[in-house]
Amino acid sequence: MFIFQFLLLLPPTLRCFSKFPFPQTASSLTRAFSQSTSMSINLHSHAFSGNPLLSKFPLPGNPLSPSAALEALNARISLNNTHSSPSPSFKVLPFRNGRPLASSSAGTGDSPPIWDLGWLGLDDLRGIFENSGAQLSVDLLVYLNSSSEDDAVYWAIDVSDKVPELGSNNAAGLCFVELRTLMVATDWSDLQLMGNLAIAGHAKALLEWHNFSRFCGHCGEKTVPMEAGRRKKCSNDSCKKRIYPRVDPVVIMLVIDRENDRALLAKRPMRIARLYTCLSGFTEPGESLEEAVRRETWEETGIEVGEVVYHSSQPWPVAPNSIPCQLMVGFFAYAKSLEITVDKTELEDAQWFSREDVRKALTFAKYKQAQRTAAEKVEQMCKGLEKNRSLASDLNVESADEQHASIVVPGPFAIAYHLISSWAFSDQNVVNGVECNSKKPIGSMTNSYIFFFKESLEIKIMLLVLYISFISNNVKGFCASDGIFPSTFDFALFIHVQLKFFINNKLINIMQDHLLSVMVSKKKKK
Ligand SMILES: *[C@@H]1O[C@H](CO)[C@@H](O)[C@H](O)[C@H]1NC(C)=O
Ligand SMILES: *[C@@H]1O[C@H](CO)[C@@H](O)[C@H](O)[C@H]1NC(C)=O
Ligand SMILES: *[C@@H]1O[C@H](CO)[C@@H](O)[C@H](O)[C@H]1NC(C)=O
Ligand SMILES: *[C@@H]1O[C@H](CO)[C@@H](O)[C@H](O)[C@H]1NC(C)=O
Ligand SMILES: *[C@@H]1O[C@H](CO)[C@@H](O)[C@H](O)[C@H]1NC(C)=O
Repeated sequence: MFIFQFLLLLPPTLRCFSKFPFPQTASSLTRAFSQSTSMSINLHSHAFSGNPLLSKFPLPGNPLSPSAALEALNARISLNNTHSSPSPSFKVLPFRNGRPLASSSAGTGDSPPIWDLGWLGLDDLRGIFENSGAQLSVDLLVYLNSSSEDDAVYWAIDVSDKVPELGSNNAAGLCFVELRTLMVATDWSDLQLMGNLAIAGHAKALLEWHNFSRFCGHCGEKTVPMEAGRRKKCSNDSCKKRIYPRVDPVVIMLVIDRENDRALLAKRPMRIARLYTCLSGFTEPGESLEEAVRRETWEETGIEVGEVVYHSSQPWPVAPNSIPCQLMVGFFAYAKSLEITVDKTELEDAQWFSREDVRKALTFAKYKQAQRTAAEKVEQMCKGLEKNRSLASDLNVESADEQHASIVVPGPFAIAYHLISSWAFSDQNVVNGVECNSKKPIGSMTNSYIFFFKESLEIKIMLLVLYISFISNNVKGFCASDGIFPSTFDFALFIHVQLKFFINNKLINIMQDHLLSVMVSKKKKK
């Protein structure tokens, strides 16, 4: 049989493993796989992207467009018309110090509580303003979008120094919750909830930009909203400069050592113990994204990057240092040099991690538990029970099982997670409950586990029989750690692909070529 013939091709030193690693690896993988079936998201929408309010923005002339809606809103506010219910209806999402108003309801059965956005009707909002003796002015409202099906227009408002009682009386079940907490609390498999998160992120970014662009940077005169708060302009008639909402591009990269099948992950100071993630940094004016990837990697770790491959991007309105919205642009960056020199002002540590270590970190992290903890916290806050609003405790919830994984990587709400998992499991669709991006870094090996689970029962039995006969006859010598395979995991993959030969001839040719080239390069090195 082919696999046995193939083993005989290998030099005798390589046929020496004493401890066969496959069953253990397989069981952890099977576990990852079986956990996954209930939850997965389409990762074309990262957290904060896929905003349903932005997908088909109404054009000028449409009665629900920003300018038309603003006119209608103005009329409604100045006429003090509380009794009629004219079309369209206006829904407003209040924010206090960057936190959206939210509510929470019990999940079905054993599932965690579900948070929702605390939209208020215009009349309710006006009532709340009147009770506090505050003036609701149309300039405070920022247009988000409209829905022709609901005949509704959606707005956001910053009520930070106004209406103090809003959200403090928990009888209504409403409270202001940190966006980061909501982010962790969102069930990433539920596209509607992810849409709500994206709406809150978009609104927060717009309001924060409004707050710090109150004055014109040219002449120092006050600015006024335009296009229902989606733009601003200087109120000085001889200046009239337009001001646009700010987005700051940040590159985030997984630096990959192709030859040794490792990835570079870094730990930032003051963060959670064992939390390792991708390198990242702001782009400089006059710099391309690729150049920023190379410069940041060099500055922070002393590693030179060659090829840079785009992966995906994510809006990030929850940066701690009051930047309204970063745009995280994700890349795979292939290292040209391997020696790490950590910039201690930026990083606490940076290390190369094997694919297997990274896979373990992803497989054993308790992301679902983290989501539940945060969702329960939101529930408690909305009931008025939880006053401890520490951010650190939100982030700490994703800690992994220390026995099984030496490091923790950020959860599925972060693009870093998706960069890391699409490298580590470049060929698997779902890991630990999260769908992986199918993009793979060049040079990754072909994984056939997923196919195994899809095979018919007869084929599965045949593969298992072959597999058992293989280990019982040949186990005595083959050192995965001898270096021929980048990891025991890849050895397991290799075996499986061998078995796949009986189904797919092409695959085995690819594997054979790969293996031979690895062997040749290892021999040359020695
Ligand atoms: C609407 O009410 C405000 C106070 O709540 C008042 O100042 C304003 O004059 C009223 N507008 C009209 C048109 O009645
Ligand atoms: C607006 O900016 C001021 C001054 O920079 C700050 O004190 C305040 O907290 C900000 N408000 C919000 C809602 O971010
Ligand atoms: C946003 O507005 C467009 C145009 O009216 C509409 O098609 C879309 O459904 C709206 N989104 C939501 C969530 O209302
Ligand atoms: C208005 O803008 C002009 C031109 O930029 C400037 O010279 C003038 O000082 C500004 N006026 C005020 C009140 O800021
Ligand atoms: C508040 O949060 C901190 C960590 O951020 C935690 O150590 C502390 O126990 C919490 N307090 C309460 C009363 O939950």
